[in-house]
Amino acid sequence: MHKSLFVVLLAAGLPALAQAPTPLTAHLDKVSLTFALGANGQPNYTINYEQKPVVQPSRLGLVFQDGQGFDGALTLTGSEIKDVDETWQPVWGEVKNIRNHYQQLTVHLRQKAAPGRRLDVVFRVFADGVGFRYEFPRQQALGNFVVMDELTEFALPADHQAFWIPGDYDTNEYLYTKSRLSAVDNSAQVKKSEEIAVRVAPDAQAVATPLMLKADNGLYINIHEAAQVNYPAMQLHVDRASHRLTARLVPDAVGSKAFLHAPAHTPWRTVVVSDKATDILASKLILNLNEPSKLTNTEWIKPMKFVGVWWEMQIGKSDWKYANSLDTLDAKGQLIPTGRHGANTANVKRYIDFAAQHHLGGVLVEGWNVGWEDWFGNWKENVFDFVTPYPDFNVQQISDYAKGKGVQMIMHNETSGAATNYEQHLDTAYQFMNKYGYPAVKTGYVGRIIPRGEHHDGQWMSNHFVRVAEMAAKHHVSVDMHESVRPTGLSRTYPNWMASEAGRGNEYNAFSIGSPPEHETIMPFTRFMGGPMDYTPGIFKLQNYEPTGKRRVQTTLAKQLALYVTLYSPLQMAADLPENYNEHLDAFQFIEDVPVDWDDTRIVAAEPGDYLTTARRAKGKDEWYLGSITDENARQQPVKLDFLTPGRRYQAIIYADAKDADWQKNPAAYQITRQVVTSKSTLTLRLAPGGGAAVSFKPL
Ligand code: NOJ
Ligand code: CA
Repeated sequence: MHKSLFVVLLAAGLPALAQAPTPLTAHLDKVSLTFALGANGQPNYTINYEQKPVVQPSRLGLVFQDGQGFDGALTLTGSEIKDVDETWQPVWGEVKNIRNHYQQLTVHLRQKAAPGRRLDVVFRVFADGVGFRYEFPRQQALGNFVVMDELTEFALPADHQAFWIPGDYDTNEYLYTKSRLSAVDNSAQVKKSEEIAVRVAPDAQAVATPLMLKADNGLYINIHEAAQVNYPAMQLHVDRASHRLTARLVPDAVGSKAFLHAPAHTPWRTVVVSDKATDILASKLILNLNEPSKLTNTEWIKPMKFVGVWWEMQIGKSDWKYANSLDTLDAKGQLIPTGRHGANTANVKRYIDFAAQHHLGGVLVEGWNVGWEDWFGNWKENVFDFVTPYPDFNVQQISDYAKGKGVQMIMHNETSGAATNYEQHLDTAYQFMNKYGYPAVKTGYVGRIIPRGEHHDGQWMSNHFVRVAEMAAKHHVSVDMHESVRPTGLSRTYPNWMASEAGRGNEYNAFSIGSPPEHETIMPFTRFMGGPMDYTPGIFKLQNYEPTGKRRVQTTLAKQLALYVTLYSPLQMAADLPENYNEHLDAFQFIEDVPVDWDDTRIVAAEPGDYLTTARRAKGKDEWYLGSITDENARQQPVKLDFLTPGRRYQAIIYADAKDADWQKNPAAYQITRQVVTSKSTLTLRLAPGGGAAVSFKPL
């Protein structure tokens, strides 16, 4: 509406009115967005949820290296509103159909001063939040430009509770802190987190996104970004007195933020909001803001579960490396084996046998290729070539053996942070995977990045991760990236980019103080908002699994089962050792049964930091699976089974904590019971401290 009026006024040559036809608004259901130009010509936006302020008037803008960015006075030259309501199907995921319903407001702005550059800001207002981005149209006055800062702010109306990790340029693998915004200070945590190899967090008041907030007025708010391509990750500086958050972009090696050429645009800045915590987890806003799949043929992309020669290295039972040193050779000039090399043919076959017996799709093997003697800490190139196996890893024999058993091998490419080196070998590395029939690869970037001075979460690396996904797609290989930038929904655009780590996974329980029981109740509200994580659940031996005997996985065994439902990934590991699973094959049955691809998902109950219950319907089947977890507190969780098909009887198999289970004292105590249920039944699950429950429902 305001468009046509405005165009008419402009055409009539009424320049006085060209200055201030703001505020402009867009809304959908309870969410409304207002755009305005301040008296000084600076643009700002406001978000409300019903009558409640979510984001108070907050600045928009960018600073450029040439001093002529969008930080000064701007004029509004036009705007458009459009409504979109469409439905699309992801290649894999938590639901079969995704509704993309929003009202879009585009504002066209121009610098008042010379050179009069033009900028668009596009807002999309959904029923569960807002996304907006800056767009730089093609124009004479703006060819190449360098972004030095983004001025985007999120002015929060009160001192919310925040679930945060430090804003670190190189890692997201921290423990979460729950505090008021006014108490955010990451310095002590950054300093003591020695288990994380590379930490660069120069701003003690910076936090990473996804940032989860809870307001005292009952609103749940999540701030993140969508479609982070050709741009650094956004972190947030917290002004503790005013609760104002300001975008901080991860710099490159010379301190710039992004090199762009118009036409170009930034990623979407996202604010998901609801008065129900469950809605935050059900939100598809971030996926909706990503581009549709660039891959036309996606038949070859297959979700799967896998085991791996992996946890045994994490817990020190075996080693990635074959020899102790590259510099000590035997009389024949060969490496001297330590005898502790995990990726040997016989051991790999043992995992293949286990996967075949239990119908798991894949086997990951780490430490199979030469280089691991020298992989960590040297900040150098050419450590790995990604195609040369150690002498005791017979790649042909292993591939044939796996094929004969109907199991697929998963490749591992650790780059030790030398991304340039990996790019040089990408093509041969993926040809090698094709030759030996590996449909997926886990990549890794432990250590400081090469090109030296670049950060894991800067513009250069964000482009690198996309290049890897594209090259993998060319070879029909799916990817699981460790130590990558945290996801922003790009798996919609590159569905073969199936998972990332980019967060604190189960592995921290192997080599550090681990993660407390509340950790997995926070992760879905933070790290998982951007997409699937290779969290590596399924540890059954929860105590005495590593040499010091002091560490503990801070959950019960039943909770490890529940994680297969509460933490979504289309690539899901059964992370423990076959011998530990063999001790509890009755419980392992749940891991064997649980799908990794779903037609429907219901978030039954959720509170960040406290509890989560999720139910999901298997792809193409009327089978449901439920996971329920709690933090350190025991809990009774009632679950109405109204998601089941009415009139049908189902056999429910309930894998629950035993009466005396407790993550500290008795973590492996579980009980498995069976019950006939219908959509009218209610289950009451008893969750132990640090506990959980997993349930499968199959029609009778
Ligand atoms: C870190 C990864 O997160 C872990 O899973 C892997 O085993 C090591 N790097 C070695 O690549
Ligand atoms: Ca890691």
